[in-house]
Amino acid sequence: MNETHAIDYARYDRIRPILWTGQALELLDQRKLPFVVEHVQCHSSDEVAQAIHALAVRGAPAIGIAAAWGVVLAARGIEAGDGAQALQQLEPALQRLNAARPTAVNLAWALARMRRVLAAAGADWREVIEREAQAIAEEDLAANRRMGILGAGLIGAGSGVLTHCNTGSLATAGFGTALGVIRAGVAQGHVARVFADETRPWLQGARLTVWELQQDGIDATLIADSAASHLMKTGAVQWVIVGADRICANGDTANKIGTYQLAIAARHHGVKFMVVAPASTVDMDTASGEQIEIEQRDPGELFGIGGTRTVAEGIQAWNPVFDVTPADLIDALVTERGVIERPDAAKMRAAFG
Ligand code: MRU
Repeated sequence: MNETHAIDYARYDRIRPILWTGQALELLDQRKLPFVVEHVQCHSSDEVAQAIHALAVRGAPAIGIAAAWGVVLAARGIEAGDGAQALQQLEPALQRLNAARPTAVNLAWALARMRRVLAAAGADWREVIEREAQAIAEEDLAANRRMGILGAGLIGAGSGVLTHCNTGSLATAGFGTALGVIRAGVAQGHVARVFADETRPWLQGARLTVWELQQDGIDATLIADSAASHLMKTGAVQWVIVGADRICANGDTANKIGTYQLAIAARHHGVKFMVVAPASTVDMDTASGEQIEIEQRDPGELFGIGGTRTVAEGIQAWNPVFDVTPADLIDALVTERGVIERPDAAKMRAAFG
């Protein structure tokens, strides 16, 4: 049987974080989920940049898609005879979008795509960039569905999986990357148990991932981040499955803080480690993880939970929000182009060179 037909996408893909209305960009406000379902309306590219920076929209592919629509919004304010002229005027807005967050390469990738089509566009440049933003979103959804099938195919029947952060529909155009693999794996009967890390300090796992899975009717068990090694020792999980914010030319992968320690613990316990990300997350211009800029956020994110302060005044905190997992801890890298087992520079070059 063709396994793509086994997945009921109407059941397993219900949430859309980004909606282009033709006039404005509506972003499902991920700071407020799960108890408040509210949308942020962006009418300008600077509002989109602010929404990205403030994590109203988050997740590497979703940030790229939102930025592409941000360019469409920026274009509203200018007059130009062709795309090249428009690009000149739009460049400051593109740079402000690009500066909204540093680690996820999908942001720069989407803006580079918008630049490229603008540079070549004629008098119809407005339609050209709107079509390109739409294409970026549609291609992301298609990539996620393809990766879901590929990744689920690696998982043995009856397996338990652990995921980190939120890599689902909320973080993408839909379906998700690592969470897409988990959705496909559940649909196909390969995944029997799903565990999700809380993902301190912003609680993407606790607030977003288990809520998303609940919408699909998928049971998930929430664990404290610090319970992960203990869980692996019990034998309940066979795969750790995570997304990525930037994958380097040698396979080193930046993802949500805490991913690296999961990869170390997985190797120690004989648990397999899978990274799932579209080709738009691959950055062949960055040789290795040392060159990735790791976003540092306000230490205040560590001082409390849900707006209630839990830490004494006058305490210092360090808040890097991504880390880098070295390629040799990755058992499988899944993109829409296929599966790379034990990625390294040569295999990356062959797939993405
Ligand atoms: O800070 P966030 O929530 O944007 O971080 C998100 C992650 O680290 C995800 O794992 C990654 O972007 C992949 S999302 C498909």
